[in-house]
Amino acid sequence: PAQFAVFGHPIAHSLSPQIHQAFAQQFGIALEYRTIDAAPAAFADAVRRFFDDEDGRGANVTLPHKAAAFALAGERTQAAARVGTANVLTRLADGRIAAHNTDGAGMVRDLTDRHGIDLRGHDALMLGAGGAARGVAWSLLDAGVATLTIVNRSPEPADALADAIGEPSRVHTRYWEDLDNIGSYDLIVNATSAGTLGQSLTLPFSLAASRALCYDLGYGKSAIGFLAWAQAAGARYAYDGLGMLVETAADAFELWHGKRPDTEPVYRSLRARSV
Ligand code: ATR
Repeated sequence: PAQFAVFGHPIAHSLSPQIHQAFAQQFGIALEYRTIDAAPAAFADAVRRFFDDEDGRGANVTLPHKAAAFALAGERTQAAARVGTANVLTRLADGRIAAHNTDGAGMVRDLTDRHGIDLRGHDALMLGAGGAARGVAWSLLDAGVATLTIVNRSPEPADALADAIGEPSRVHTRYWEDLDNIGSYDLIVNATSAGTLGQSLTLPFSLAASRALCYDLGYGKSAIGFLAWAQAAGARYAYDGLGMLVETAADAFELWHGKRPDTEPVYRSLRARSV
C-alpha cells in the first residue's frame, strides 16, 4: 500500500494515523500511515529517506518541524509561503517535495462549517505570535474578520507578524501588560503554547464580549485552562482545536488522494474519546 507518515518530536500520541486510516476506509483505500519521531537535527535526513528510499507519497509535519519542512521543500504553495511553515509535504512526480500549509484553512472551516460561525465583521484578538499564531492569522483575515489585534508576552514577535501581514488598517498589536485595558473582542484565539507547557494564562474577563467566541488552537489537556476561563468570562462559545486537527487532515488527504473525506464521523468519534 501507499506510504504516508507524520513527523514530529515527540509524536507517539499523534491522532493523525487514526484520522487518515478512518478517511481511507471511507473510500476503500489501503494505505500505511506511521509516526516518525525525528529530533530536529535528524529531520531533513529522515524526510529524504522517507520520500527517496521508502517510497513515501505524503507526510504531515507537526512540532517542532514546520519551519524546517517549509525550508527543505522544492516547491511551496502560496498558503505555505506567506506563513513560512508547512504541515503537509507531498512528493511530486519529478521527485521534488512540495510544501503546503493547511492549518489556517482547517481552523476557519472548523469554525464556519462545523460550528456555523460567520467570521465576517468580527474583531479578533490573537493571544500569542509564535508558529501556531502565524499559521492561522492570514486565514482569519481571508475569512473576513474586521480587525485582528495581536498580543504577545514579548512584543517583538507580535510586531513582526503584523509587519509580515502588512495590513495596518486591520491588524494591530498591543502589549500583554495592557490586556486589562484593551477592551473586548468577538473572537479570542489562544495561540500560545502555555497550556502545552503546563502553564496557565491570567486573562481578564473584560476581554470577552457578550457574544464572544473563544477558540484554543490546541486540544485535550492543553486547552482546558483557556476554555474554563472562556466559560467563566461568559463567552457564548468555547471550542478547542480538535475539529481544526481533523479539517487540516482532510485537506492533506484530499491533496494526496484527490478525494474529500467526510470529517464529521471522524470528529465525533475522537470527541467522544477526548477529555
Ligand atoms: P507554537 O508553535 O506552539 O506557536 P512557539 O512558536 O514557540 O510555539 O510560540 C509559543 C507562543 O506562546 C509564543 O507566542 C509565546 O510567547 P513569547 O513569544 O513571549 O515566548 C507564547 N507563550 C508561551 N508560554 C506563555 C505563557 N506562559 N504566557 C504567555 N504566552 C506564552
